[in-house]
Amino acid sequence: MTGTLNLPALTTAWGEVRLPGSKSISNRLLLLAALAGGETEILDLLDSDDTRVMLAALQKLGVGVTPSGPDAWRVIGCGGVFGVKEADLFMGNAGTAIRPLTAALAMAGGHYRLSGVARMHQRPIGDLVDGLRQIGADVHYLAAEGFPPLEIFPAPIHLSGPIRLRGDVSSQFLTALLLTLPLTGQEAVVELTTELISKPYVEITLNLMARFGVRVEREGWQRFRIASGQRYCSPGRIHVEGDASSASYFLAAGAIAARGGKRCVRVEGAGRSSIQGDVRFAEALEQLGARITWGENFITAQAPEHSLLKAFDLDLNHIPDAAMTLAVLALFTDGRCLLRNIGSWRVKETDRISAMATELRKFGAVVEEGDDWLAVTCPRRGIDGPRSGIPVMQGPGMQSPPAPGLCRNVEVATYDDHRMAMCFSLVALAGVPVTIRDADCVGKTFPGYFDAFAAITAPVIAIDGPSASGKGTVAMRVAERLGFHYLDSGALYRLVALAAGREGVALDDEAALAALAAGLPARFEGERVWLGEADVTTDIRSEEASGGASRVALLPAVRRALLARQRAWRRFPGLVADGRDMATVVFPGAEVKIFLTATAEARAERRYKQLIAKGMPANIYVLLKDLQERDARDTRRSEAPLRQAEDAVGIDTTPMDIDQAVAAVMDRVSEICAARA
Ligand code: DC
Repeated sequence: MTGTLNLPALTTAWGEVRLPGSKSISNRLLLLAALAGGETEILDLLDSDDTRVMLAALQKLGVGVTPSGPDAWRVIGCGGVFGVKEADLFMGNAGTAIRPLTAALAMAGGHYRLSGVARMHQRPIGDLVDGLRQIGADVHYLAAEGFPPLEIFPAPIHLSGPIRLRGDVSSQFLTALLLTLPLTGQEAVVELTTELISKPYVEITLNLMARFGVRVEREGWQRFRIASGQRYCSPGRIHVEGDASSASYFLAAGAIAARGGKRCVRVEGAGRSSIQGDVRFAEALEQLGARITWGENFITAQAPEHSLLKAFDLDLNHIPDAAMTLAVLALFTDGRCLLRNIGSWRVKETDRISAMATELRKFGAVVEEGDDWLAVTCPRRGIDGPRSGIPVMQGPGMQSPPAPGLCRNVEVATYDDHRMAMCFSLVALAGVPVTIRDADCVGKTFPGYFDAFAAITAPVIAIDGPSASGKGTVAMRVAERLGFHYLDSGALYRLVALAAGREGVALDDEAALAALAAGLPARFEGERVWLGEADVTTDIRSEEASGGASRVALLPAVRRALLARQRAWRRFPGLVADGRDMATVVFPGAEVKIFLTATAEARAERRYKQLIAKGMPANIYVLLKDLQERDARDTRRSEAPLRQAEDAVGIDTTPMDIDQAVAAVMDRVSEICAARA
């Protein structure tokens, strides 16, 4: 990805997102596994800047940390006794790494230096250092008092009275102490001298400590006691749930723009059973009028069917990160929105209150700002009425609808803050193009964010129909006209059949074919199709591959294996997809659905002419019989049968040539856009 990202105007959101692992859980688990006795395998660990910082630091400290599979890591616990006694550690801008590591190293009897990027050196750590000094730790500031970089020297740790700690700057100071105090083996008590903020993050800490066998007694949110003699013990295997803060962007997109038909946005990986406080963002969405459903491990969001989201006045201390998403959502509500008790924003990746206010104003919003609150009023209140869910098509002849009151083509600055970049992508759903500067800062917690965002927001034109109805050529030309991507889903089934033939897999061995489909080394380059190193553009069009494709397409496991691969084609600025089940199964929320037909005789004749033109032998009667058999298989199969979706427009191309068919589809695309606008 380049630094600057231009998002097209968007108006609908629907589809599914598999969440990356939670940052908060990933970094806590890495440290706990290192501090424990025994070996731990962590599954679904987040792969991002912040977790790489933690992994690199642990490796540098001599902890055995090795990959054990995709997104899986094996950690050999050192019981808090790091093999390396002297090290310089670079912590980037990862608060979840520097805070607990500072505490762990202060108790580790070595000589260490911890530093980070310039912003990290402006983020406070003084309360934690004060807490550590109370138990004898020898921690020094190398630059400004109260901030990293830090130098730590060996010192005896003794726990006599309670450690007194402030709780109102960052809950990570308490988390850091709680995670590391069991290393002393002594009874430890932490008493908070000010009200604790972001309590759900401390709940994550307590929950994960318990999974490693250490219990913390809690008196309200003021006093925490760890009884003596408790040691961390590996639970063996442990799985990281999906990141609930990252879920907020997709759920918000659903709350804004999953409207019409059965459209909804579904996030997989966090739900009712999540231990992350940020899942409660979905409760806030419900208060705004969004339609939310909860599963154990998923959440879905839809926009209110007939109204704008409601303006809100909320205390958001419990969801400080996801609360940023609400600040941008305010642009889509019917009034002044007040975000209260968000003072911790000031000491995060950037001063988020000030950054948010500055960027929201660029769109024309009225923003008021206090020490620990923000109020946002959208300029278009009352003008726009309910949003209509119009697809915004781009390209010649496809005008975007006028933006409802928000400034267009704003360049959003991101302040090296991943959440600023992710939050402001949502503004494009107001139907305004948006430019995000330094968009790759999302790598801090979610390197694939913009692909995932495109996969639920890029408009889709689905063109289905029987074999040789001309849909392939038509779809390709329509994609060209609109500047959209083009997916020939039939080619994937043809590739599976071809690969099966080459690898000797029988066409009824469902499991083997599904495995083949899942790992298919397919590549599409313009009109050329590759299977591994072989150019198979012509081979997949052979009658043999065609027949094979229609047989493997009967198998549910093969279809499932190809589903994610097909959906991954949904990218900006949009997609034209052709096949049999584009409108019914793969992209059921598609903005435009076309069903192309032609009589079997007309299709056989077209195929016959194509083959003769290529100098290949052909018999029109054989072709006709073949087509009829394939039609029968495609329409009668139980899994994803060929049928016209209820909301699809049927076009009979029997009397048309290709140019006329393309024109007919383009007419329908424009009509549908105009009718919905
Ligand atoms: O569109 P096509 O002729 O290239 O498709 C080849 C075969 O794959 C066809 O027999 C039906 C099957 N197919 C399918 O079942 N679902 C799709 N989305 C696309 C193709």
